[in-house]
Amino acid sequence: MYLTKDEERMYNGEHGEVVEKAIKIIVKVGEALGADRLVQVSHAHISGVSYFNIGDEGLELLRDLRDKGARVQVYTTANPYSLAGLGLYKEKEIREKQLEIIKILTDIGVDSQSFTCIPYRLRKPGLGEHLAWAESSAVIYANSVIGAKTNREGGLIALMAAIIGRTYYAGMHLDSERVAKIVIIPKFEIDSILVASLLGLYIGRISKTIPYIKARFRTQSGIVLDIMIRNMLASIASTSDIPLAIIDGITPKGTYSVEEEERIEIDRKDIEEHIHYCDSDTLLLGCPHIELHELQYILDYSNMRSLMNYGVKRILVTMPKIPLNAEVNEIIQKIREKFKISVEIFPGACAVVSNLSMLGFSVIATPHGKALHYLPSLAGVKACPINV
Ligand code: F3S
Repeated sequence: MYLTKDEERMYNGEHGEVVEKAIKIIVKVGEALGADRLVQVSHAHISGVSYFNIGDEGLELLRDLRDKGARVQVYTTANPYSLAGLGLYKEKEIREKQLEIIKILTDIGVDSQSFTCIPYRLRKPGLGEHLAWAESSAVIYANSVIGAKTNREGGLIALMAAIIGRTYYAGMHLDSERVAKIVIIPKFEIDSILVASLLGLYIGRISKTIPYIKARFRTQSGIVLDIMIRNMLASIASTSDIPLAIIDGITPKGTYSVEEEERIEIDRKDIEEHIHYCDSDTLLLGCPHIELHELQYILDYSNMRSLMNYGVKRILVTMPKIPLNAEVNEIIQKIREKFKISVEIFPGACAVVSNLSMLGFSVIATPHGKALHYLPSLAGVKACPINV
């Protein structure tokens, strides 16, 4: 692989042991994927932040990197942590280890205000900008909606890329790889977060390669459209390893090409085939994270009425870090008084990467495809689809 003079110095250990290790890992992965050079990235995003996911071994690795002087070279954000980071769980050891992971990441330069799976809301990448992001839902959004360029990195590779400010020049960084070969036409209107999610889960299951999706959304712009797209994409990324899905009218022109080899039409009954409705009085919102104004929009009057009909009594909301100030408390209070539904906000956290069964939960309702897909295996609870 061709390395610049500066990269050669990193490779030869002139920038220290951690940088040397990081560039050697990136070069090795790049060579395996056919890259002939590295590319500078402007933003890295790290996943694997929950103690429940990385365990003692992951924590030990992070400690070791920090103690050897690891420092990120570019703007770096991190995924949400487990609910232990907010002091939940009676086991002190779990809480302390989660807090230590957060501290190590901020020590090495991760933005302490990040810990979100929608890092594009903290810093929106430019068109064609090269990134090194882990977190499948953010990767597919960056490639498909923003027109930025990132592979779907593992958490450790994204961290190594952050430490050297570069990644391997292959995959989604190359225009020649951003080609859709399968055209997908849903024959129905996407009119809710759940329908967007179910469609995404289905597309992920049937697509072996980058899809070109000709979808009709109920709204043509605004908050609701963005939430539906975010959920459709996150769901595609849950049932596949696809890093880019081209959405007709949304994906910026010039960032992809289409060479149709196959065309598939999808009926509404197709996407509902694997779905088993069930009941839960607890609703999870915010997977991917939602912002406060989006939460307000979702919890509008009519939706609250239907949630009441479902028997929802408690809403858990995971969102980017926000101060729980008077404005937020007022919103929560209003909902509580008007609908007798309690709303609990978990800033910077992810319920899916938390052991929810240890917190006494057994069934959770959610409209989010990614949560529906992962809650049983990662959080140890049954997931019920709910039409929000
Ligand atoms: Fe985000 Fe956690 Fe869902 S990281 S996408 S809230 S699984």
